[in-house]
Amino acid sequence: MPRLKFLGFIIVTAAFLLLLLSLNQRPVSVYHKNPHTYTNPIQEEYVTQNYSYVTTIKEIIRQQQLFMEQETLDYPFPPNTKLRNFTLATGGRPLRNIIITTWRSGSTFLGDVINAVPGNFYHYEPLLDYGIVQIRGPPYADSAVKNLKRLLNCDYKELSNYLDYGQSHVYLFTHNTRLWDVCEIYPNYCWNSTFLTEFCKLFPFQSMKVVRLRLRLAEELLKDES
Ligand SMILES: *[C@@H]1O[C@H](CO)[C@@H](O)[C@H](O)[C@H]1NC(C)=O
Ligand SMILES: *[C@@H]1O[C@H](CO)[C@@H](O)[C@H](O)[C@H]1NC(C)=O
Ligand SMILES: *[C@@H]1O[C@H](CO)[C@@H](O)[C@H](O)[C@H]1NC(C)=O
Repeated sequence: MPRLKFLGFIIVTAAFLLLLLSLNQRPVSVYHKNPHTYTNPIQEEYVTQNYSYVTTIKEIIRQQQLFMEQETLDYPFPPNTKLRNFTLATGGRPLRNIIITTWRSGSTFLGDVINAVPGNFYHYEPLLDYGIVQIRGPPYADSAVKNLKRLLNCDYKELSNYLDYGQSHVYLFTHNTRLWDVCEIYPNYCWNSTFLTEFCKLFPFQSMKVVRLRLRLAEELLKDES
């Protein structure tokens, strides 16, 4: 009898472990949280039949626009405004959050918390390609601030250093979960400036976290009215 009990114990434990393992998969993207809202049979078909190479940027953007409308369906936009008042793609003005800080300050955590807001596009550590520096003035200050402005306006066409760096250091994009989900399906477009520009412009909220720039230099960003 004790032996049977022991066997029962083993089975229950194993079942419990399996359950834990099955729950402990990679973080589930927002598209999968609510399968009824976000499942997109067309997209799944593209993946399984290896159509990802023939899908055009225009089609991906159109799909993403639909996802964006779904994702922000319940978002309490201010009275008399809608998603389109906040997206660059429709001539709106995004709400931008910028964290300027220094290393080991907890900003990666805070950045991820802000990115949990539906419809957020996260420019994670956009000065990574400058290396381990804290930019205080020349020679980097001008180009660094210019690059931040370009990103906040979803203008990727002059950012080849940034994009080249990212291709070998993908954590530049992996924190930007809504982009990365799409990068995993269409890796051939992930670092394409045309794609990134159009994709970014669909998002009503833009966040950024920077440890490589002194706050004094970031003041310049506040003067930009657009
Ligand atoms: C999909 O197609 C591309 C190009 O035709 C090929 O390089 C790639 O290996 C294919 N992927 C799969 C999963 O079949
Ligand atoms: C929101 O956008 C619509 C049309 O795109 C426009 O008519 C309206 O004035 C905008 N609202 C605000 C508060 O900007
Ligand atoms: C981005 O992709 C488009 C469509 O495939 C292509 O025509 C364009 O040259 C690419 N741009 C860059 C910068 O690679």
